[in-house]
Formats: sequence, C-alpha cells, structure tokens
Amino acid sequence: MAPQEHRRTPDPLHPAGGRAGAQTAPAQRRRGEELPDDPGTRPELLDLGALEERARELLGPEVADYYAGGAEAEVTLREATPAWRSWRLRPRVLTGVSAVRLGTTLLGSEVATPVGVAPWAYQALAHPDGERGTARGAAAAGALMTVSTSASTGLADVAAAEPAGPRWFQLYRLHSPAHTDDLARRAGDAGYRALVLTVDLPVFGRRLREAAHRFALPADLPLPNRPGPAVPAADSPVWTPADVERFGRLSGLPVVVKGVLRGDDAVRCVDAGAAAVWVSAHGGRQADPVVATATALPEVAAAVGDSAEVYADGGIRAGSDVLCALALGARAVFVGRPAIWGLATGGADGVRAVLDGLSAQLATTMTLCGLDDVTAVPRDTVTPAPGTIPPGP
Ligand SMILES: Cc1cc2nc3c(=O)[nH]c(=O)nc-3n(C[C@H](O)[C@H](O)[C@H](O)COP(=O)(O)O)c2cc1C
Repeated sequence: MAPQEHRRTPDPLHPAGGRAGAQTAPAQRRRGEELPDDPGTRPELLDLGALEERARELLGPEVADYYAGGAEAEVTLREATPAWRSWRLRPRVLTGVSAVRLGTTLLGSEVATPVGVAPWAYQALAHPDGERGTARGAAAAGALMTVSTSASTGLADVAAAEPAGPRWFQLYRLHSPAHTDDLARRAGDAGYRALVLTVDLPVFGRRLREAAHRFALPADLPLPNRPGPAVPAADSPVWTPADVERFGRLSGLPVVVKGVLRGDDAVRCVDAGAAAVWVSAHGGRQADPVVATATALPEVAAAVGDSAEVYADGGIRAGSDVLCALALGARAVFVGRPAIWGLATGGADGVRAVLDGLSAQLATTMTLCGLDDVTAVPRDTVTPAPGTIPPGP
C-alpha cells in the first residue's frame, strides 16, 4: 500500500475541503463508494461530543456508562484529554508543504494512518455487527485494529470478516495457562500480525459506575475467546518479563506490551524481547489517579530510543492530540471510546468516519504546522503550554 497523501484544498474560505477535498482522508475508500449524507458518517463533520451523546441515547445509560466509565474517582479519565492540550504546537512556515503523508508502518505492517483502534471488549453490546463491523470500518480507513480477548466474536471470525486488514490480537491471562497458550497460538495461525499483552490488569479496577448500575453482561452475549465453565480460571493473571519471550515464541508474532507508564518499565519490556511498548492507562479504568499518558510518553520514548516502537492511547480526541503524541515520541496512537461511539451510531461506516475524521484533522494540523510526514515529526513541534509543569518523574 502506498503511503497516503493528503493535499490541502487551495480555497482558504472552504477549509473543510468538501467531499472531494484531500482532508477527507479517503484512505482505502473503494472506487465509486460514497458515504451516506449523514453528519455522523461524514469525516469532515466529525464531532465526537455529539457522537458520544448520540451513542448514549442509542445504548441506554447502563451500557453507555460501562463504556464511558473509569475507576475510583475517575481522575485519570478526566485528565487524559486535557493532558494532550497542555502542550502547544510550534508551527513552521516557509516550508513549501502542501501535502501530507499519513502512511506509516507498524511492526512492518503498512497502514494508511497512524490512528488505530485500541482493543475494547464486548463490541456486540454496541452494535449487532460487533467486532466484524469494527474490522470493516478500520480496514476501510486503512487503519490497524486490535482485537480483545474479551471480544464477542471469535478471533478467527474477525480475521475472516476482513482478511486483508492488518490486525493485532490482545491477550489477557484470565484463564487457565493452557487456554491462554492456545489463544496465542490461534492468533498466530489466524493471520494476526502481533500479540499485545495487556499488563495493567492484575485485578479489575474499581469501576463505580458499573457497580452503581449493577451492570452485568447479558447471559446470551457470546464470548468465544473465553473458555467454557469447565476450564478453570488463571492461577494468576499477572505477567512477568519471561512471558514476553514465551508468548512471542508460542504465537510466532512480535510482542507489544500495553499498559506501560514508566521509562524504566519500558526498558524492562524491551530487554525482555518486546518489539513495541504501548503507553496506556487503560482508558482510566485501572489504577486511579495515575500519570496521564501524555505526561508519561516523553519519558518512555526517551528510555526506549530506537530499540522498539512506542505507541500511546488515552483521551485522543482530535488530530492535534495525535500530532502532539507523534511529536512526543509515539509512532502511532490508538482510540478506544471514539471507535465505540462510531460503531454504536453507524456500524462499520461509523468506525470509518471516526478514523477518517481524526486522520483528516491530523492532515490539516500537520499542513498548518509545515510538516509533511507522520514518520518525521520533530520533538520541538510541541512545547509545554504556559503555566504547565514540564513532565518528568
Ligand atoms: C469499554 C472499554 C473496554 C476496554 N476493553 C479492553 C480490553 O478488552 N483490553 C485492553 O487491553 N484494553 C481495553 N480497554 C482499554 C483500551 O484499549 C484503551 O487503552 C483505552 O480505551 C484508550 O482510551 P480512550 O478510550 O480514551 O481512547 C477498554 C476500554 C474501554 C473504554
């Protein structure tokens, strides 16, 4: 896949560029295919606040709060987006930049955008198409999708829904060791391109919104990656450095460690054999309050250097947040809740509109900053906003 080019429309009075404008992030759009004329599925009109409200109406308060909530007092959740906005862009001028390349590679897989889909559980609660819809939407946007162990669609069935789309499998260790090993092997066999070990969930965080609603999964919700009741639970759901090499070997895949918030931990992951480190606070659903990912990212990127790829998630809600993350050392970012809102409101088209919309915003912001390539965003593109404390341990 050739890296995608985004050209700015020459008309400054129409910065959104219209349907044919380069900022609409056509990515993998199929020839002749048009998006329905609905603000929810038009990338140039992406309004994540409105999309979240619409998703809440459709889902009802219990499911919407299951998706929206964080742990404890939700400090991490609240601070995630403002932490990206505590940086300011430093645009360059006289650069001659009029087109932006959003294409990059993630562990060798070509993608049309550095905005991917984070793993999130139980997608059939959001839309009948569940993970298949997300897979189709992500593939249409040329984006990478990460499929959760807690998916409501079997890992091989998600792969079959969109065989060409690059996807990773996220592994939890909530089952017997034999079942976890089996999942890792099956992910390798089903064409997943990396195994993501989510290491920030030794126990579930205390999610008070779920408790208030007495939220429980519907009895008929399929959980095909989970073993039946005959299979015992894990002796321990925790991870050790030796697991990085072990699960890489079992699956035959590069290993990404997700849930890292410290430079020293990132180095331990890489020393253990991780190909990439994913800076994440699990969307504020685990320990709380923890350092914002926008604050942890520079420390992790500096510690890892060129020895592994670095990604980030948490509160990414605009193209400028994506650019900030790239400047702070991320090769790619992932979105959780925005993809949920997209799926809930528009199925595959909704997921694609969210990803296309964020990619289009990124292209515009990069052009305005005189940057033409997502793989070459200098660190000095951002500076702490006045009055903010520069990050550091
Ligand atoms: C409803 C929900 C379910 C999630 N399920 C998983 C999961 O199964 N595995 C995992 O590694 N992370 C899971 N996450 C965390 C996301 O992968 C990601 O780290 C987080 O959502 C990013 O923050 P954002 O929602 O602000 O974009 C979940 C997040 C949410 C909101």
